[in-house]
Amino acid sequence: MTSDSIENLSTESRTFAPSPEFTAQANAQAGLYGEADKDRLAFWDQQAEALIWEKKWDKTLEWESPYAKWFVGGKLNTTVSALDRHVTEGHGGRIAFHFEGEPGDTRTISYAQLLTDVSKAANALTSIGINAGDRVAIYMPLIPEAVVAMLACARIGAIHSVVFGGFSADALLSRIQDADAKLVITADGGFRKGAAFALKPAVDEALKGETNVAQVLVVQRTGQETAWVEGRDLWWHDVVDPQHSTHTPEYFDSEHPLFILYTSGTTAKPKGIFHTTAGYLTQVAYTHKVVFDIKPKTDVYWCTADVGWITGHSYMVYGPLINGATQVIYEGTPDTPHKGRMFEIIEKYGVTILYTAPTLIRTWMKWGDEFPNQFNLSSLRLLGSVGEPINPEAWIWYRHVIGGGNCPIVDTWWQTETGAIMISPLPGVTATKPGSAMKPIPGISAKVVDDKGVPVPNGHGGFLILDQPWPSMLRGVWGEDERYKETYWSRFPGIYFAGDGAKLDEDGAIWLMGRVDDVMNVSGHRISTTEVESALVSHEAVAEAAVVGAADPLTGQGIVAFVILRGGVEHADGDVLIKELRNHVAKEIGAIAKPRQIMVVNELPKTRSGKIMRRLLKDVAENRAVGDATTLADPNVMKLISEGLKSSKDED
Ligand code: WTA
Repeated sequence: MTSDSIENLSTESRTFAPSPEFTAQANAQAGLYGEADKDRLAFWDQQAEALIWEKKWDKTLEWESPYAKWFVGGKLNTTVSALDRHVTEGHGGRIAFHFEGEPGDTRTISYAQLLTDVSKAANALTSIGINAGDRVAIYMPLIPEAVVAMLACARIGAIHSVVFGGFSADALLSRIQDADAKLVITADGGFRKGAAFALKPAVDEALKGETNVAQVLVVQRTGQETAWVEGRDLWWHDVVDPQHSTHTPEYFDSEHPLFILYTSGTTAKPKGIFHTTAGYLTQVAYTHKVVFDIKPKTDVYWCTADVGWITGHSYMVYGPLINGATQVIYEGTPDTPHKGRMFEIIEKYGVTILYTAPTLIRTWMKWGDEFPNQFNLSSLRLLGSVGEPINPEAWIWYRHVIGGGNCPIVDTWWQTETGAIMISPLPGVTATKPGSAMKPIPGISAKVVDDKGVPVPNGHGGFLILDQPWPSMLRGVWGEDERYKETYWSRFPGIYFAGDGAKLDEDGAIWLMGRVDDVMNVSGHRISTTEVESALVSHEAVAEAAVVGAADPLTGQGIVAFVILRGGVEHADGDVLIKELRNHVAKEIGAIAKPRQIMVVNELPKTRSGKIMRRLLKDVAENRAVGDATTLADPNVMKLISEGLKSSKDED
C-alpha cells in the first residue's frame, strides 16, 4: 500500500509531437509559458487587450480569497468586442455561423447580419421592459436565435441563464425561481431524432409555479400548434423584426454579471454558477486563440456542444465570436437521418477544427469506422476533447479515424466554474500523451496535492487544485455565498479545490481521474473509476465502459463494470468474453482492479451533456431503487440495465 491519496496504476508511453509545419504556423509558441511565469498579471493584462475597451482598467486583480475582481475599473460592452469591432474592422461580410438544422434547412449568418439581429433583439428586450441586471431565462433548441438571445442580453447588461432545452418543466421552474428571472425566451419547439419536439408546453407548465416572469418571448421554429397565454406570450418575430436595426451600446463595469449557468452538485439543488464580464471574456478569447489555434480568415470551427452547457457559452458564443471565427452549429442528433451526419457536415463546410466530447467519440467508435470513412474529413487540422477523461484508446481512434493521423489533439480540462480552459496541451508546442490533459496553460497555476494540501511528486496521485485566481473564475454561487465558500474553498483553506482527482506521471503530465466522489476503495486501495474504464476500453471488444464501486462485505467496495461492445462484436450470455475482460483489466492495472462483475449493456445512463451518471449505476449495483433520474437523456436506460443486471447476477 502506498500513501497516495489516489493510486497511480496504469501507464501510457506513447507520445505525439506536433509536426514542424503545424508548429511553424501556430498561434502559441513555447515561449508563452516563460512569458506568463515571468509576470502573471502583466501576461493577463496583455491578453485583455484583445477586448474592445470603452475605458481601460486601473488595476489587474483585486484578490481577497475567495473573492476576485479582475480588470478593476474598466468599462466595456461584451457585444462590441464580439460583433461591432469585426464590422468596423471591415469583416462584416465574414460568416459567423453556418447553421444546419436537423431537417436539413440551413442559414448563413455574417458578422454584419448577426450584429443587426442582436441590435434588433436588444431593442426588443428594452421595449418590453428588460433592464441591465435583470435575469432572463433562455430555454431553446440549438438555433441561431439562442445565440442572438444570449448576445442581446449581454448587449443591454441583462444576465442570461440558459437552461438546456432537454430539461423538464420542473428543472426549468427551479432555475427560473432561483435566479428570479423576469423573462423567458423559448421556441415553439425544435427538431431532434427526425421529429419536431415541443418546448413551449414545458414553459407553460413551469410558469404554473410561483415566479416573477411577466413575459415569454417565443421563437417560431417548427410551426407546430402552440398554446398561448394572452398578455404574457409574445412571438419573437412580432416583437423583434420591426425594431431598429442599430443599437447604441451602453458600457458596463468589468465585473458586471454576464450570466448564470446552473450545474448539478452532489445535492439535488443545482448551483447557479455566475460569471462576470471582462475576466471571463479575456480568458475565453485567449484560450480559444492559443488552444484551438484559430485563424479567423481560413478556419471553419465546430464546437458540437449545446448552448445549455458551459462549453457552448465559452467556445461557441463568446470565445469564437470575439476572435472573429467562422463556425458551424448543428441543431440535431448525430444519427439523424444516418450515423454519418456529423461527418457529412464536416465535409460539407470544410470544417478545420472540431471540438467535441469523449462520449460522442466513443459512440462513433461503437457505430464503426464505416461511417466516418464514407466522408472526406481531410479539411480537419485540429481536434479537441472536453467534458470527461478521454480514454487512451478513444484518443487514438479519434486521432486516426477522424483526424487521419495528422491532427494535434487538445484534451482540455476545465469546468463550468472555471469558465474557460485551464489545463490543455498547446497544439504547436506540446508532445501529447493519449489520455492526458498535460499541463496548465500559460497564465494558470494548477497542482496535484495530497490530503494535507502538499504537492505530490511525479508518479503520484492526489487532488487537483488551483492555487492562483484566474480571470474567468466563477464569482460565486448565485444567492448562496456560504455554499460557494463551502463547496470550493473549504477542503484546502484559501485554495480552490476542483473536486477532481488527478495524477502526475513520471514527466509531470497531469492525468485526470474523474470526480473524487468517483474514486473507489477496494481493500484499502483508492482506485479511480476512470482508470478501470480506460483499461476496459483498451480491449478491442469494448466501445464504452462505466465503472462503479459497490458496497462489498469483503473488500469495502467491489468493482462493478458496465460495458458497451463495439459494433460487430458478438456476445453470448456467460461467454468467455467477460472472463477475458476481467483478466485484461488485471493485466492492464493489476489484480486489485479486476471487476467483481461485468455486465454488457446497450446504453449507459448519461446526462444530456454526456456525463455518465454513476450514482444511478451504483444504485443498481447495490440493489437499491434507482434514485432521481430526471436529468438523464434517456430515462428508459436504467430500467433495461436493472433488469439485465438481475439476470446476470449468478454468472460470475
Ligand atoms: C470533467 C465542462 C477529464 C471534470 C467543461 C470536471 C474532464 C467536470 C475534462 C466539469 C477533461 C472536463 N478531462 N475530465 N478534459 N473536462 N472534465 O462543469 O470532472 O460540465 O470537473 O464543464 O468535467 O464539468 P462541466
